Amino acid sequence: MILFQNITKRYDGRAVLKDVDLQISGGEFVTLIGPSGAGKSTLIHALIGALKPNRGMISVDGFDITDIDRNKLQDYRRKIGIVFQDFKLLPKKTVFENIAFAMEVCGAAEADTKKKVKEVLEIVNLTRQQDQFPHQLSGGEKQRTAIGRALVHDPKLFIADEPTGNLDPESAEEVLRILQKINISGTTVILATHNQYLVDNIRKRVILMKDGVIIKDKQESGYNFTEEPEFIEII
Ligand SMILES: Nc1ncnc2c1ncn2[C@@H]1O[C@H](COP(=O)(O)OP(=O)(O)O)[C@@H](O)[C@H]1O
Ligand SMILES: [Mg+2]
Repeated sequence: MILFQNITKRYDGRAVLKDVDLQISGGEFVTLIGPSGAGKSTLIHALIGALKPNRGMISVDGFDITDIDRNKLQDYRRKIGIVFQDFKLLPKKTVFENIAFAMEVCGAAEADTKKKVKEVLEIVNLTRQQDQFPHQLSGGEKQRTAIGRALVHDPKLFIADEPTGNLDPESAEEVLRILQKINISGTTVILATHNQYLVDNIRKRVILMKDGVIIKDKQESGYNFTEEPEFIEII
């Protein structure tokens, strides 16, 4: 379970997160949506311990992330899968090698690595492209490689910050389908996006942020979120 309590983050005296309270249960699929500058990435960076809020507490399964030592933070980060808008693949490694590398650096045995990479390639639909290099891939395939790499440690929490920012609508939908697949297997997924079109395809919890504040939190949206007046107004 993830708990944000009274999270405030200021840059040069300006609050970009204002007293944010948020609770996310294990296994949820949560989409953070809001215009650029709303504070989505800042909230995510605080959650992965990459920045320290000025005020408030974040706990994940009982661990206080805002007050954690370096070693514990590293352990915690390893248990999270993270992807961003840019894919950060190693250009001289193939799809297979890029995914395998995430295991090799942790000292995994070769046989275990091979088995796991094969499994992950199936989840992200890249078995056929496993021997291709990043420059031979479409944007969607690159992002799916990055997702695969983030899956090798079986994360219980998967965070995607604008994963479709550089993708065409079709590739974006495929990425969304993969995130949903990851969620169905029991992993908590947090997706941050300013892509309003994606949201219509998500029948899960949607949290609307603006100016560092959560202004709407809809469970299992089950309706056309983008027809909400507040949504139209700000996106
Ligand atoms: N390192 C930083 N220094 C100063 N201001 C920052 C920094 N990081 C983010 N901000 C500001 O915080 C606000 C929220 O940014 P961000 O969390 O990236 O929004 P989003 O991800 O919703 O687009 C923006 O106004 C941004 O300019
Ligand atoms: Mg952002």
